[in-house]
Amino acid sequence: MFRYTYGEVLVCSRANPSQIERPPKGSPPPLCHLDMRMQLTDKVIIITGGCQGLGRSMAEYFAGKGAKLALVDLNQEKLDQAVAACAAKGVEARAYLCNVANEDQVIDMVARVAEDFGAIHGLINNAGILRDGLLLKVKDGEMTKLSLAQWQAVIDVNLTGVFLCTREVAAKMVELKNSGAIINISSISRAGNVGQTNYSAAKAGVAAATVTWAKELARYGIRVAGIAPGFIETEMTLGMKPEALEKMTSGIPLKRMGKPEEIAHSAAYIFENDYYTGRILEMDGGLRI
Ligand SMILES: NC(=O)c1ccc[n+]([C@@H]2O[C@H](COP(=O)([O-])OP(=O)(O)OC[C@H]3O[C@@H](n4cnc5c(N)ncnc54)[C@H](O)[C@@H]3O)[C@@H](O)[C@H]2O)c1
Repeated sequence: MFRYTYGEVLVCSRANPSQIERPPKGSPPPLCHLDMRMQLTDKVIIITGGCQGLGRSMAEYFAGKGAKLALVDLNQEKLDQAVAACAAKGVEARAYLCNVANEDQVIDMVARVAEDFGAIHGLINNAGILRDGLLLKVKDGEMTKLSLAQWQAVIDVNLTGVFLCTREVAAKMVELKNSGAIINISSISRAGNVGQTNYSAAKAGVAAATVTWAKELARYGIRVAGIAPGFIETEMTLGMKPEALEKMTSGIPLKRMGKPEEIAHSAAYIFENDYYTGRILEMDGGLRI
């Protein structure tokens, strides 16, 4: 096996090096297909749950790469702060108040983003909530059950919200003839986790939908992939009891929680790699639950 560089591409060949056709001396390097990967500069990306935690971290990371950002969340003040942080990096960023579980609001939000920016190249379905509880709990002879309201609230935001945003954004991208990528934030809990009947079901549904949509939307130039974080340092996890956090961290092979920037880095990788679709990237420090 011989190796040589052709332009910037490393080429491996079983042929005799004397028989390999080389470009004439002084000619420009050939165009490598890796140069044609999706670049985030000037791409319009919608991030739901964009005003804090992973959403805000991804927004700022993408702003650093020159992307234009449409941040979607429920809190105007925090949205304004996130938009200002992105704008400080020299990119256009706008805030959209929208409940991702509300069909009318999602349809309106996507239409406004398209009007404001003139294009949509990507979506990160990141908005999510927790309403943890055991299916059944028996204490002092008394039984409590996981309420339908607890179940429904999580399914509405974490699963239906992902469906609504993906459907509307994909439709708008096809209409505008914009190619790009959609990333769904699933979770390590999609495998099933104690106290998370609702959350695990929603995150497993998101993972399955990711594969389905990758198959269905490839023909329109839209890739769909997921990220399954383990335990990451955000407002969501820092609200856990310290004893629970410590116990959980001790089970992670890397012995620490993940950082939001590490998830943002993975999201950028998915956007920038044109061959990544239909898969869930596991970002959990090696933890299995
Ligand atoms: N932090 C972790 O360890 C972890 C692990 C696995 C998966 N995740 C997932 O990552 C995503 C982000 O988590 P986070 O830790 O940053 O959480 P977070 O609570 O810090 O942020 C979630 C954001 O979503 C917004 N949101 C909630 N409901 C909404 C709705 N109906 N419409 C619009 N926005 C809404 C919230 O206002 C908030 O800003 C979630 O989907 C979560 O399930 C997080």
